[in-house]
Amino acid sequence: MDVISDSLWGKLAIAGLVLLLSVSAFALTMGVFPSKNHMPVEGKTVLITGASEGLGRSVARQMAAKGANVILVSRSAAKLESALAEVRAAARDPQAQRFHYLTADVSRPDYAVPLLAEAVAWNGGRAPDVVWCVAGVSTPALWIETPLAATRSQMDVNFWGSAELAHAALRLWCGPGAAAADEPPRHLVFTSSVVAFFPVVGYGPYTPAKGALRALADTLVQEVELYPQKVRVHVVYPGSISSPGFEIENRTKPEITKIIEDGDPVQTPDDVAALAIAGLERGYYSVTVAFLGHAMRWSALGGAPRNSWLVDTIMSCLVPLAWIFILPDIFAKIRNYAKKHGHPATYQNKN
Ligand SMILES: NC(=O)c1ccc[n+]([C@@H]2O[C@H](COP(=O)([O-])OP(=O)(O)OC[C@H]3O[C@@H](n4cnc5c(N)ncnc54)[C@H](OP(=O)(O)O)[C@@H]3O)[C@@H](O)[C@H]2O)c1
Repeated sequence: MDVISDSLWGKLAIAGLVLLLSVSAFALTMGVFPSKNHMPVEGKTVLITGASEGLGRSVARQMAAKGANVILVSRSAAKLESALAEVRAAARDPQAQRFHYLTADVSRPDYAVPLLAEAVAWNGGRAPDVVWCVAGVSTPALWIETPLAATRSQMDVNFWGSAELAHAALRLWCGPGAAAADEPPRHLVFTSSVVAFFPVVGYGPYTPAKGALRALADTLVQEVELYPQKVRVHVVYPGSISSPGFEIENRTKPEITKIIEDGDPVQTPDDVAALAIAGLERGYYSVTVAFLGHAMRWSALGGAPRNSWLVDTIMSCLVPLAWIFILPDIFAKIRNYAKKHGHPATYQNKN
């Protein structure tokens, strides 16, 4: 009897410990405890692509509210004019802060060097302190049923659009005659997606670009250590954002993708921007903005630098247990859908 009750107490103690560790991990990740600001932007210049709407526009507004000078970039001057007015109105110190927009199509090869040259000229000869690549596009579709051109064009915007700017910015920041080693760090921020941790059927033309961005950032975060200048690389991994882009992507999203995503949280661009900035201010390398995103990150950490050794190590051991239940459920949904709807070529929305 004593043996049974001892083992029961042992199990309860282990369960309690696991619960305590999970709660502490969650509290640490959500920034419940105060920490130093690792990305102060007051008086700094921040360049943001995709800043005319959605997440980029919210980031631009919130950076202005924190005292940054902001350069907004996208293709449409009309949308940028309206975003610029909104960003200007959010300024913490309208007398001291400056705002500007530049038009560029980030899918064009070699767009970034002249864009940064214009930004430097506007910024009094100084390179921007923060470069945040937000511009992106997602047109969900079944990969086999869709021409390959869709994957190529989403790669052009999502991967190459960010890679070109990252390459130009890092050369500007890290060249032999560039910033001195004792200057405050520059920050390069990529915007990927949680699909880089867990790809979902229907995002075939999009996921490779966001996965490639993750791979590039995981490499660059090592490479910048070779340079005397201080450069911090970060990646933001949003889930669903209720942006204009999300409305457009829902028009072509295959039904099976909607079934699998059913119930996933959808966050506003303002919320995602605020949570992403909070993660960057805490000094995180990989920034997720919802519990589902944190869980996906913990289940796919790979060789990425840890935000917290303790939290990430504990959660990366616990979270994969959830896959025992989640993966069979996802595959069952896909197989049931296949049984009910026949060959994908016959779907009404073949996307
Ligand atoms: N929405 C989501 O559910 C979701 C989920 C995960 C990750 N993300 C990622 O988060 C980022 C923002 O998404 P969002 O939904 O907020 O975007 P959005 O509402 O679609 O806005 C996209 C922005 O990018 C600009 N843009 C698009 N193509 C461009 C190009 N070729 N060159 C220059 N600018 C371009 C657009 O402006 P112009 O039209 O003026 O060029 C706009 O400012 C993207 O990288 C997206 O992949 C989004």
